[in-house]
Amino acid sequence: MKIDIVTLFPEMFESPFGHSIVKRAQEDEFVQIETVNFRNFGKGKHRVVDDTPYGGGAGMLLKPEPIFEAIESIEEKSVRSKKRIILMDPAGKKFDQEMAEEFSREEHLVFICGHYEGYDERIRSLVTDEVSLGDYVLTGGELAAMVMVDATVRLIPGVVGNQDSVLEDSHSTGLLEHPHYTRPAVYEGMEVPEVLRSGNHQLIEEWRHKESLRRTYLRRPDLIESLDLTAEEQSWLAEFKSEQLSQDEH
Ligand code: ADE
Repeated sequence: MKIDIVTLFPEMFESPFGHSIVKRAQEDEFVQIETVNFRNFGKGKHRVVDDTPYGGGAGMLLKPEPIFEAIESIEEKSVRSKKRIILMDPAGKKFDQEMAEEFSREEHLVFICGHYEGYDERIRSLVTDEVSLGDYVLTGGELAAMVMVDATVRLIPGVVGNQDSVLEDSHSTGLLEHPHYTRPAVYEGMEVPEVLRSGNHQLIEEWRHKESLRRTYLRRPDLIESLDLTAEEQSWLAEFKSEQLSQDEH
C-alpha cells in the first residue's frame, strides 16, 4: 500500500511512524508512507497557503491552488494507482473500525491535513472522502491522520504477526474484547478465573464469548442494538439484565 500525507507539518509524523508496528510495516514493505508539504506549492516569495475568507469573518482559509498542486504532484508520481483522497475534517463522516478495514484494502491512500479555520470549499471537489476522528475540534488534521493511518496499517494482512489477534480485537467482532489475564494466578488477592486455568478450550472459548458480550452490554449497549444475536447470546443477555436488576435492589 502507498500512503501520502499532504500537510504543512511533515515532521509531526516522524515519531508515530518511526516506532513499533508502523515502522516495521514500512521496513517490511507492506506500506510506503510519504509526506508532501503543500507549503512547497504556496504562492509568491513567502509561499503563502492561506487567505482571508470572501464575505468576511474570522480566521484564515487554506487556498485551493497549493492543495490542488500537491495532489497533482502525487498523481504525476503514481499515475496508475487507484487513489482514495481523504480530507481530514471535523464535519466529515466519523472514523471507525469498519472504515479502517475498508482503507486497509485500498492500493493508495492520500490524507489531506488542514489547519487554520478551514478549507476553500473548492478543495472538496478533489476528494473521495471527508472524515472526522470524532466530535471535537483539533488544531489540525495531522493527529487525526496519524490515528487513521495507524488503525489502517495494522489491518494489512501480515503486518501484525498473529492475524487472529487482530480479528478478535474490540470493534472487529462487533463486540468489545473479553478480559485477559497473565501470571501470577493470584495477585493481591485478585484471582484469575478458574476456567482460564482449566485447559478446557471449549469452556474457555465459551467464557470469553460470554464475557465479551457482558462487557459490551455494560459499557457499550449501543453496539448490541446492531447485532443479530444467537439464542445463546440472548439468554446470556437476559442473565446479565437480571443480575443487574438484583444488584440494583441491594
Ligand atoms: N481537524 C480538526 N479537527 C478534526 C477532527 N476531529 N477530525 C479530523 N480532522 C480534524
